[in-house]
Amino acid sequence: MRFSALILICFSLGVSCKREAPQPHPSILHEAFADRFLIGFAINNQQVRGNEADAIAIVKKHANSITAENDMKWQNVQPAVDFFNFTAVDAFVAFGEEHKMKTIGHTLVWHSQLPNWVHNITDSAELVAVMEQFITSYAGRYAGKIHGWDVVNEAFNNDGSYRDTVFYKYIGPRFIERAFELAHEVDPNAELYYNDYNMTFPGKRNAVIAMVQNLQAKNIRIDGIGMQGHWTLTHPSLEEIEESIIAYASTGLQVMITELDISVLPRNENPYRNGLPESVSNQLAQRYADLFRLFIKHSDKISRVTFWGVHDGQSWLNDHPTLGRTNYPLLFDRNYNPKQCLYSILEVSQYK
Ligand code: XIL
Repeated sequence: MRFSALILICFSLGVSCKREAPQPHPSILHEAFADRFLIGFAINNQQVRGNEADAIAIVKKHANSITAENDMKWQNVQPAVDFFNFTAVDAFVAFGEEHKMKTIGHTLVWHSQLPNWVHNITDSAELVAVMEQFITSYAGRYAGKIHGWDVVNEAFNNDGSYRDTVFYKYIGPRFIERAFELAHEVDPNAELYYNDYNMTFPGKRNAVIAMVQNLQAKNIRIDGIGMQGHWTLTHPSLEEIEESIIAYASTGLQVMITELDISVLPRNENPYRNGLPESVSNQLAQRYADLFRLFIKHSDKISRVTFWGVHDGQSWLNDHPTLGRTNYPLLFDRNYNPKQCLYSILEVSQYK
């Protein structure tokens, strides 16, 4: 980056540029954080299939970890009771191997993007058998090739009660234990994670910690807790995030920010169809800088930060919570150009 641009960012971020001999500015994300945590991106099916060269170039340059945005979900892997389709997962795993990246398995047991034939099961023994077969065949097939599995995704409500999923309804809370136990059995070297959103809500936080402690008391392997990180310019606060990182790490597990994106849109509005105003772009850069300063402060607890998509055009936040929005949550724009927020993160990576 040009020096003038650096000065501009320092100015707008309110960081001191008065160091005597400035270090060369890092330009590669995973290198900038090499001694702190992994840097990942969620990549979609087109990208895995090699159809979006500009996006792939960004991933190869900046990441040392990848997550499949959708390809590894139950709906895609076992669309029918007697039909497994591993084509996309094979390609994803091969991409990770070729580029020496830590591949994340997202996800084994989740109520969403679950095929209807599983949703419709009402018999407890049948559901246990189906879940066991899925984990055994799937995690077993990729044993030794997946760095870590999101074994269970989103099992709790915000208040800490169990989410009313088919798994909870017909198996009870032990579905979580069984999933972790079995994943470890079939892929003993893989790290195993619990992953969820709204992880700064006190009710959910306490429930997740209690669930982890229950697994630990029973000697069932779990390595990490994933805070998805679908956040906004203002929420949750840095204090809430920090408190939560510390609370999760107090279990002894690694903490990961697994699906980071920052929505810049007011909840039910779509005001930036024709471009992001500079003032909001500055706010986004500041928010990312603040978050990464916090992650650096707690890098002894954090093992990975993964962005939920490579560029703004790919983000699910263009269609969530309502369809057809124009959001700007990621580090690269719709033309694959780096945004100010990428530079703000690279800039803070230089600080202790
Ligand atoms: C999202 C994908 O980004 C979308 O493409 C898909 O339509 C829905 O799922 N929590 C998760 C992710 O764990 O798997 C979700 O990904 C976002 C919320």
